[in-house]
Parts: sequence; C-alpha cells; structure tokens
Amino acid sequence: MTENTRNFDNEAASWDDKPDRVKLAADITFAIRQNVPLSTDMDVLDFGCGTGLLTLALQPYVRFVTGVDSSRGMLAVLQRKINQANLANVKTVLLDLDRGDRLSGSYDLITSSMTLHHIPDIDALFCEFHRILKPSGLIAVADLDPDDGQFHSDNTGVYSFGFDRIMMRDKLARSGFQRISIIDAAHRGKTLSDGSTRQFCVFLATAQKQATGTLRRDCD
Ligand SMILES: C[S@@+](CC[C@H](N)C(=O)[O-])C[C@H]1O[C@@H](n2cnc3c(N)ncnc32)[C@H](O)[C@@H]1O
Repeated sequence: MTENTRNFDNEAASWDDKPDRVKLAADITFAIRQNVPLSTDMDVLDFGCGTGLLTLALQPYVRFVTGVDSSRGMLAVLQRKINQANLANVKTVLLDLDRGDRLSGSYDLITSSMTLHHIPDIDALFCEFHRILKPSGLIAVADLDPDDGQFHSDNTGVYSFGFDRIMMRDKLARSGFQRISIIDAAHRGKTLSDGSTRQFCVFLATAQKQATGTLRRDCD
C-alpha cells in the first residue's frame, strides 16, 4: 500500500452504517435505473463496488453482476451479503488497477459509484472499460462535481477533487465512447470542518462504446 492509499479495509465493517452514504448509493441506483435500459440479459461489472450498495441494488434487474474492488475487506462484506441472500448472480473479484491488474470478462454495462476520484489515471480506466465492453456496451459512472477537496475530511487516496463535466465528456469521447450524457444523480449535504454545511452534487455519466475500428485517441 502506498502512502497516498486510503485503507478501505479498515472502513469495510462500518461502511454501511452511514445513512447518508446508503441514501447516496440508492439515489445513484435510481438515476441509473432511470437512464439505462437494464434487462435480464445483461452482464454488469460494478467497478469499485465496495460493500455492494450499488451492485446488489442492480442485481434483480440484470443477469449477472461482477463486483470488482481492490479492498479485501470491502469484498468480504459484499460476499457475506451474497451468501446470506443466497444470490447466484453476483460474484466478487479482487483486483487493483494501480498494481497493474487488468479487468477481465465481457460486459454489457459497467457501473461505478463514487470510485473514480480514488483512481489516479482515469484515462487508462476508461480505456480498460472500453476494452472489456461488448460492442455497443454501456457505462454508467457516478462521481462528484468539483468539490474543492471539501467532500472528504481526509483526502488521503483522493486523486481528483471532483470532475468538471466538460472535461469528463472529453475524456469519455477520447476513450472511444459516444452518446455521452451527464446529469445530476444525487446531492449529499455535509458539515465541513469549520462547522458550515455544503451540498455536494454527484453526476451520472452514461455513454456507449463506439463501434469497433473507431479511432480512440487516448487508448492503445
Ligand atoms: C468510496 S468507495 C465506493 C464504494 C461503493 N461503490 C459505494 O458506492 O458505496 C470506493 C471504492 O473503490 C475501491 N477502489 C479504490 N481504488 C481502487 C482500485 N485501484 N481498483 C479497484 N477498486 C478500487 C475502494 O476499495 C472502495 O471500495
């Protein structure tokens, strides 16, 4: 683990204890359901799935969901939930792109909730998403609008203080995605260290993989 890595293992057991966090995941799930045509023939990868707040909420509407995360602790919590509910259409995969691991499989939809800001190289991540999507596959990724570094009380492991939507659109286009749409998905209020409160906006970016053979300027 590098110095700038947040230790999600330590947070896993109590991750779901914060009602605001659970509500945020529910709002993101709602936005995805409103904006992505989910169907029971879809294979989904949820990147940075954590304890599976989004993974498990999507599971009833699709064929199979693979939850990918770099934290053993987070995945252990999710695996417990899978076992308790006896779910046959969800699995966990331990993987850390920062250590050179690569995503595998082939998916109709890739989702991600509040994980992009923990990834140092978003361009490489989007190229990976593009690579493992089936032709015309979709992505639905939710993260913070620019937050001036105020969303987290400790910015260890935070590589982006939110994302500018124009920049996000450009990155997706450069990685080979089309039909890009970015909407408000949720708002989360937080009390800051000076005692003031601030509302943070979370966007949902959806896009479709361009046809094979289309030039992807930023991917090999
Ligand atoms: C803020 S949490 C979000 C968890 C979940 N999606 C949610 O909405 O509750 C970010 C997650 O991304 C995972 N993560 C961070 N860096 C990662 C990486 N390089 N590869 C895979 N997962 C990563 C963390 O372990 C953590 O579970």
